[in-house]
Amino acid sequence: GAADDDRLPLFFGFFINPFEQEKVKSFASNFLKTLSTQEAFREHSGEFSSEKELNLEQYFHHEGPLHCTTKFCDGGKADGSGKYALQEVVKERYNSETKLSLTALMVTPRTLGTRVALTPEQLELWPEGGDTDGPAASVPGVGTLPVGSRAHVTLGCAMGVEAVQTGLDLLEAELLLKGDQTSDVRVELEQGALVYLGEGRWFLTLKEPMVVSAIFSGQSA
Ligand code: A2P
Repeated sequence: GAADDDRLPLFFGFFINPFEQEKVKSFASNFLKTLSTQEAFREHSGEFSSEKELNLEQYFHHEGPLHCTTKFCDGGKADGSGKYALQEVVKERYNSETKLSLTALMVTPRTLGTRVALTPEQLELWPEGGDTDGPAASVPGVGTLPVGSRAHVTLGCAMGVEAVQTGLDLLEAELLLKGDQTSDVRVELEQGALVYLGEGRWFLTLKEPMVVSAIFSGQSA
């Protein structure tokens, strides 16, 4: 596997089974449809675009396999990537199957993604500094969140936004959810409780987590 290779992958992560990707994508697109019809959302749609008719499904773009990044290595340029790849647990679990539990959907003017609730076993593959490294270092209060809070699957990005933003949006959302000021906009949907976090940020906590099969692996550039 890539872990034995001289060259490190672009990133390590849990890659959702191709068949189950469709399940996740259609769940998300149904949610976007529902969200668009909510009066509360329509009142705030100007936070996404100044266009009169906002089409959320066309607003977000995604290419490549759905996955939950564990370690962004940038081919070895990222801090600690060699050390990560050499860990026994990384080598042992490479190409092994696991179940990912998706517990929330998040929509912001920048990104669309799911929260991933990592199991203790999956957290063994979460790198040191996984929540706080890189651009996450500038999210105020990020160090107060439980380990693995940044774990997510990027489902789409707005034009000109890079995927790394999803994890940052998720950290911000978790901090707001944890904070004192409870959102005054809360809508009970069939899928779960939808809350508005301000500035175009919407968070749906799923009643039932969506469980999908995934392979721990690496992707080269
Ligand atoms: P994400 O994990 O949110 O999907 P890119 O295509 O932009 O090079 O990114 C490749 C993958 O690595 C994507 O999955 C992306 O985001 C993730 N990623 C990119 N940059 C970083 C970073 N600085 N820290 C953590 N993950 C990153």
